[in-house]
Amino acid sequence: MSIVKDMSLAPSGHQKIQWVRDFMPALSGIEERFRREKPFAGLTIAVSVHLEAKTANLGLVLREGGAEVHLTGCNPLSTQDDVAAAVADSGVATYGVYGVNMEEYEHLLVETLKCRPHLIVDDGGDATLLIHKGYRAEEDAATLDGTPESYEEGVVLDTLRRVLAEDKEKWHRTVAEWRGVSEETTTGVHRLYQMMERGELLVPAINVNDSCTKSKFDNLYGCRESLADGIKRATDVMIAGKVVVVCGYGDVGKGCARSMRSYGARVIVTEIDPICALQAAMEGFEVKSVESALAEGNIYVTCTGNRDIITLEHMERMRDQAIVCNIGHFDNEIQMARLDASAAVKRVIKPQVDEYTFPDGHRIFVLAEGRLVNLGCATGHPSFVMSNSFTNQCLAQLELWREHLEVGVYRLPKRLDEEVARLHLDNLGVELTHLTPEQAAYIGVDPEGPFKAEHYRY
Ligand SMILES: NC(=O)c1ccc[n+]([C@@H]2O[C@H](COP(=O)([O-])OP(=O)(O)OC[C@H]3O[C@@H](n4cnc5c(N)ncnc54)[C@H](O)[C@@H]3O)[C@@H](O)[C@H]2O)c1
Repeated sequence: MSIVKDMSLAPSGHQKIQWVRDFMPALSGIEERFRREKPFAGLTIAVSVHLEAKTANLGLVLREGGAEVHLTGCNPLSTQDDVAAAVADSGVATYGVYGVNMEEYEHLLVETLKCRPHLIVDDGGDATLLIHKGYRAEEDAATLDGTPESYEEGVVLDTLRRVLAEDKEKWHRTVAEWRGVSEETTTGVHRLYQMMERGELLVPAINVNDSCTKSKFDNLYGCRESLADGIKRATDVMIAGKVVVVCGYGDVGKGCARSMRSYGARVIVTEIDPICALQAAMEGFEVKSVESALAEGNIYVTCTGNRDIITLEHMERMRDQAIVCNIGHFDNEIQMARLDASAAVKRVIKPQVDEYTFPDGHRIFVLAEGRLVNLGCATGHPSFVMSNSFTNQCLAQLELWREHLEVGVYRLPKRLDEEVARLHLDNLGVELTHLTPEQAAYIGVDPEGPFKAEHYRY
């Protein structure tokens, strides 16, 4: 039984899904294969990914492979109600309502996981975390007693206390069926490795993010387009001539910095890692601390996957009309809770654009409440690049099901990474050069690939 806002919105959602399908070539190829082979027959798969049209398409492709799919979002502001209604209308159990609060968000996750999935596609690790924390609490309820580090963690603990009071074995039954999880994003992958190091990980996990055809495409080229899309849709601001401060110069930061420069902005990068800082400098970006950039910055973009990057004290010292947004997975990159509790007066300009006026009279504009701006203020990355990411997800789900992996965190083999790239070449009219046997022998690779050693960085 689905939980969506309004089923009458389904026709618009169907149109959106149909539109993106035409731009996801490799995913369509996989769908064709799944239709013939039905590799997931008899399986239940839960998908917890930004609930918009491309994710809906992923859900439908997995269903074409024979799975019973249960779909939910991974952020209350990226859910599109019409898309959620359309997927539900297609017969996929769907749990997603735009703009719900954290309590409702966790409730939707709990509802989704009632299906006791064999496999999970996760984005940011909320589903994985909930199951792990719930499982531990069933063994030792005191694990729910600690002081939460954030409001969100407090909501998770409250949710688990409530579930535990109703059913003392729910998560053990869930884990008994659970065969693995494939994780979409950098932040979720960090959480998986931390759980593995602490010896807490319960199932095999595939780190999809670090497939080259994911992080070097979605994070980089996806954000290169969708950051500007989010900022523009929200503010219509002229980027040319502005000073944009990009915090973090990893894959996402590289895409964001290049994007803003392409519009004619002067870009300042902040970094903690000397290698990334040097990369930014060699690309011609200025590299400074946030504090040093405050006198100049007009637009701030956080993409570190870390917390407290833009503090209240930073916002208090920003220029008038500075725009502040985050494109990292969680909103804790900006101190939103402290900002909301501060003396700054909040005024809603329009949905996802909030003005805060500080006692000295200067104003800042915060986009998407500090959540991912490209999904909160726009519709995320273009479909073509998500075809890369979600083809990796489909292959990861197959791998989890077919290979009997030990508990651990794995990456997809390089031959599959190359295959995902290959599946997108025709669509772009790319002509690939083929190795002669002599050339292959000379550089020591198989003529059919893999073409690079594991340590190659692209
Ligand atoms: N919005 C989207 O569509 C989208 C897409 C992909 C990834 N993400 C998310 O974006 C975030 C970044 O992902 P990524 O793949 O670029 O990660 P990454 O690890 O490649 O890059 C993050 C960078 O931030 C730097 N950093 C960490 N703490 C910092 C600090 N205090 N100040 C300055 N720099 C700091 C790190 O050194 C690193 O270079 C993650 O949360 C990820 O999940 C979002």
